[in-house]
Amino acid sequence: MISNLPAITPRTGNELKRRTQPSIPGRSNLTLLAALLLGFATTSAHAEIRVVTANPGEDCSTQINIGWHADLEETSCALVYTTKGDEAWANAITVPGASTQSDVFDGIDSKTPDGKDWKEEAKFLDYGVNLTGLKPDTEYKYKITGDDETRYFKTAGASEFTFLWISDLHGYTPIPSRVKNFNSVVDAALKIEPSVDFVFSTGDVVAWGGSYSFWVDFFNQPFAANYLYADVIGNHDWMRRRNGGSNEYFDVTHNNPRNGYAGQEGVCYWFIYGDVLIITLNNEEMKTSPEAEAAAKTWAASVIEQQKGKYKRIFIAEHYQWFDGRNGRTSWYGNWKDFCDTHNVTLALSGNNHVYQRTHTLRADQVVADGTGTVYMVAPSADGERGVKAGPLTANADKLAYTYSSQEHSNEKEVKTIACVLVDVTPDSIRTRLVYIDENKQVQVADDHTIKTLPSDTPTP
Ligand SMILES: [Fe+2]
Repeated sequence: MISNLPAITPRTGNELKRRTQPSIPGRSNLTLLAALLLGFATTSAHAEIRVVTANPGEDCSTQINIGWHADLEETSCALVYTTKGDEAWANAITVPGASTQSDVFDGIDSKTPDGKDWKEEAKFLDYGVNLTGLKPDTEYKYKITGDDETRYFKTAGASEFTFLWISDLHGYTPIPSRVKNFNSVVDAALKIEPSVDFVFSTGDVVAWGGSYSFWVDFFNQPFAANYLYADVIGNHDWMRRRNGGSNEYFDVTHNNPRNGYAGQEGVCYWFIYGDVLIITLNNEEMKTSPEAEAAAKTWAASVIEQQKGKYKRIFIAEHYQWFDGRNGRTSWYGNWKDFCDTHNVTLALSGNNHVYQRTHTLRADQVVADGTGTVYMVAPSADGERGVKAGPLTANADKLAYTYSSQEHSNEKEVKTIACVLVDVTPDSIRTRLVYIDENKQVQVADDHTIKTLPSDTPTP
């Protein structure tokens, strides 16, 4: 898309607002005055820009995709960006955004924050700017014209990097404690590891993907303004409150690389961060038939082949769990273990189970030496409400090195897990740390574990 255009003079937010003041034809002066006093006062100064995200480009050392939504009148939004250290924005570059109108959320059955039934009202312009030519290992700041908030991302390029891995918070505006709990463990993890480079999610960030207002709330959380963000689609991100779901909800709320296979563009995608190729998958598609799962594997294998030489290690990510943390039974591990063995996948990430899991290094169903197989991990849930209780392992106890959930119930069936994972990647190792808030609201770090890793093209033993 648009990149590296010559700098043009950025419009100020005020100029943009003046330009887009709505007119009210056919109303009396009195009504107009009332509207000015009441109606426009409720149009908050920054309401027209929302769902602002910094998503990966294919090569995150030089390419980052920014996405945002704006009201239909905001037809000339632009992105202004510069390095974080450029305090006066003296070297800022302005890039006009490309937009298309999106109505996919409009009229979808949903709920208001006070729990009332309502239909989403959402017709907007879906904007994207794909930045290229960025400096590696550099912190950037950016603004959307018409919006005062300064946001940040950092490019890849350092030999070591850290990401904060979150999952399954099921953002739901009638129960704000979910997002609050999520923020509390994100804050705790960032205090433990201030040098986080990006945030990664294995899905279910909202309760119903069809509920636009839930996405708006999710992307209003502080992490979104401060970090590059990459994620996979979860079943909740896909679903409507009623009657199925759609990939479009995820596609429209992100500006992911459109390098997925046919029908999955912007939903399944791959990117390279440091020396790692990260491939994301869509379980809602794969679960529809064996052929659909085979199509995902064919695509992932082709990416691995075509990008050879640009990465040294491979991570794959999907939403559905590898194992069931209640008892250790095999879930999607069975579907992907042969693929991981064939392609020397280093780390396989998933969520959905709401129980944290880490396996030993595995190959051919056996525990093997670090660097000679795949570590499968499942992220815990983060909302303090919908956790699943980790139980004694009656299957795969040889493979699963660690599981965790809160043991305190939030209701008859579920537990209060509030957790996330820090992942530190160096050229030859991966350290993972489970961070959680315990039943006494104390921050805990558990399962601090480091594996030695080898490049994916290392001959298998
Ligand atoms: Fe979930």
